[in-house]
Amino acid sequence: MYRVIVFDAYGTLFDVYSIAALAERLYPGHGAAVSTLWRDKQIEYSRLISMSDPHGVGGSRLYQPFWELTRSALAYALKRLKLDAAGPNVDALMDQYARLRAFPENLQVLQALKLMGLKTAILSNGSPDMLASAVASAGMHGYLDQVISVDEVRHFKTMPESYALVQRYFPGARQEVLFVSSNAWDAVGAGWFGFDTFWVNRADAPFEEIGPRPTHSGVDLRHVLEVVR
Ligand code: LAC
Repeated sequence: MYRVIVFDAYGTLFDVYSIAALAERLYPGHGAAVSTLWRDKQIEYSRLISMSDPHGVGGSRLYQPFWELTRSALAYALKRLKLDAAGPNVDALMDQYARLRAFPENLQVLQALKLMGLKTAILSNGSPDMLASAVASAGMHGYLDQVISVDEVRHFKTMPESYALVQRYFPGARQEVLFVSSNAWDAVGAGWFGFDTFWVNRADAPFEEIGPRPTHSGVDLRHVLEVVR
């Protein structure tokens, strides 16, 4: 039986593509491309940092907070699309990123999990400040026992040090943890670490071709309730 349900933040609880609407207003005709490129580059930068010298073998342990990587990724996406990357639009998009919308069913699911007596948490690459503001604007703080940022260990997912943070806050067996993510690569990382996983597949996408299959999957967060009941 699961005791702790841990959620990824961006794409799982918070809708990262909801900024496409603002991007479309600021850069007509490019909203979808901006938000997709931005997201892909953000994740790519987290991996570039993680792979290049995470343990300081070369003398300087590489790390930059996710908020900074997010800003750099946005600059890249705009430049790549030959859009204005210096003006107030950048601040407007970053502001929006700090206050992302949650997927509509999420709050009820968190409420239900708490009523069932389960522990709930976020484990995210996001910097503490950006997570705090997203959680507050989604009205979720009352339903989460912990909001855990990998910033604490300065290792991004899918480094095992990041998933291990869950056990620092919730000591116990890995089998008691269900890790929920809409990012298939994150479900693979958590599965390799030893957690059971729930892959939220909102877009009817194929799962990764490498790594363990998710233990469970469903089209939105409501299906998590069926698994833990
Ligand atoms: C996170 C990103 C990677 O919240 O979705 O960790």
